[in-house]
Amino acid sequence: MPSAHIDFDFTSDKVAQRVLKMRSSAVRDLFSAATREDIISLSGGMPDVSLLPQTSIRKAVKAAADDKRALALQYTATDGLLGTKQVVCDLVRDVGIRCKPADVLLTTGAQEALDLVAKAFIDPGDLILAEGPTYLGALQAFSAYEPEIRCIPLDNKGLRTDLLEEELAHIGKGKVKFFYTIPNFQNPAGVTMAPERRKRLIELSEEYDFMIVEDDPYGRLRYEGGHALPLKALSDKVIYLGTVSKTFAPGLRTGWVIAPHCVLARINLVKQGTDLCGSAFTMVVVEHYFRDTPWQKTLQTFIETYRERRDAMLAALEEFFPPEATWTHPEGGFFVWVTLPPYVDTGSMLTTALEKGVTYTPGDSFYPKASAGRNCMRIAFCFESPENLREAIRRLALVINDRLELYRAFLDAGAIKGTGTG
Ligand SMILES: Cc1ncc(COP(=O)(O)O)c(C=O)c1O
Repeated sequence: MPSAHIDFDFTSDKVAQRVLKMRSSAVRDLFSAATREDIISLSGGMPDVSLLPQTSIRKAVKAAADDKRALALQYTATDGLLGTKQVVCDLVRDVGIRCKPADVLLTTGAQEALDLVAKAFIDPGDLILAEGPTYLGALQAFSAYEPEIRCIPLDNKGLRTDLLEEELAHIGKGKVKFFYTIPNFQNPAGVTMAPERRKRLIELSEEYDFMIVEDDPYGRLRYEGGHALPLKALSDKVIYLGTVSKTFAPGLRTGWVIAPHCVLARINLVKQGTDLCGSAFTMVVVEHYFRDTPWQKTLQTFIETYRERRDAMLAALEEFFPPEATWTHPEGGFFVWVTLPPYVDTGSMLTTALEKGVTYTPGDSFYPKASAGRNCMRIAFCFESPENLREAIRRLALVINDRLELYRAFLDAGAIKGTGTG
């Protein structure tokens, strides 16, 4: 994976101003380091696709190749193939969303859906609200269209709707374009929005006249606790984004938008200029996988495996991390969010962590302004074995303890006053 670093630049006076403002994704930049043999990676949210049964994949791919209508090899409608859209309707019905194929538009992963929503709805200077921290890929997608993005804090019950209300009262009605949220097992914080807060968010969207973009890649990966209804099941107006990346495979690059027709029509329009249509071949593979193979069994294997890994990570955190650290306890998904004392900068600590053979994602990547989240980190438990996770947390604890020792020595020497924001 090439890094976004540029050595020689003959384009500097030609490149678009908005591109000059873009930040590269820390996760993408860490990708090559994270695949080094000696490194245990806690940085990427990669599903463990080795758990997928080869027979099911072969069957779905063969069905696409053998399709008599050769649909899979042709351009398709911009909103995607009908059969695959019907499969999406069947999948989301399980989580409480009722829709028809006409309410669905297929995308190249949820990431393209984020870009299309931004392309269709954001003008430069528009105000967008999101949870803080939030998914860095969404920040990248939105930033390309130059909005102002403000973050509303989370706690263990997800979005602080009380703080959102305060912010909205300050901003006023009709000033926010949309609120972007990941209610289930949030990326990066791992927390889930409580049902009463979901309801409140919908009420606020009506009261203050903004759209809600609900991004739900992890909703089906629940390891404990009860299912909470998606926002889309509570209000038809919500723009709901889904993907097969975490329940099947990200290599298929298949996602979807479920939204009112006035929204889909605009997204359809901007998608035409982006790629005409998604890959019909992968749409047909996805359709056959979810229609003709025992995918629920595979999903159960994913759930059991990730639950074991989550438990291993949480146990290792208890065992090795210093008392100054706190972390979230995700009921599903891929991520734990760790908060260290305010004077620790997890970005500058990463080089030492890499030397010790472990990677994570520094917290500031998940905020629109790099000054926030610097004492935090996201650690992913989805990809490594329980043994490797324990070893990774042990190594990371050594790095953190070294930092804390250093700061304690400074404190003793009176060089740092109290717990500054450093
Ligand atoms: C919250 C969130 N949204 C969107 C995506 C992108 O998903 P996809 O692989 O479908 O493009 C991810 C991927 O990790 C994610 O965590």
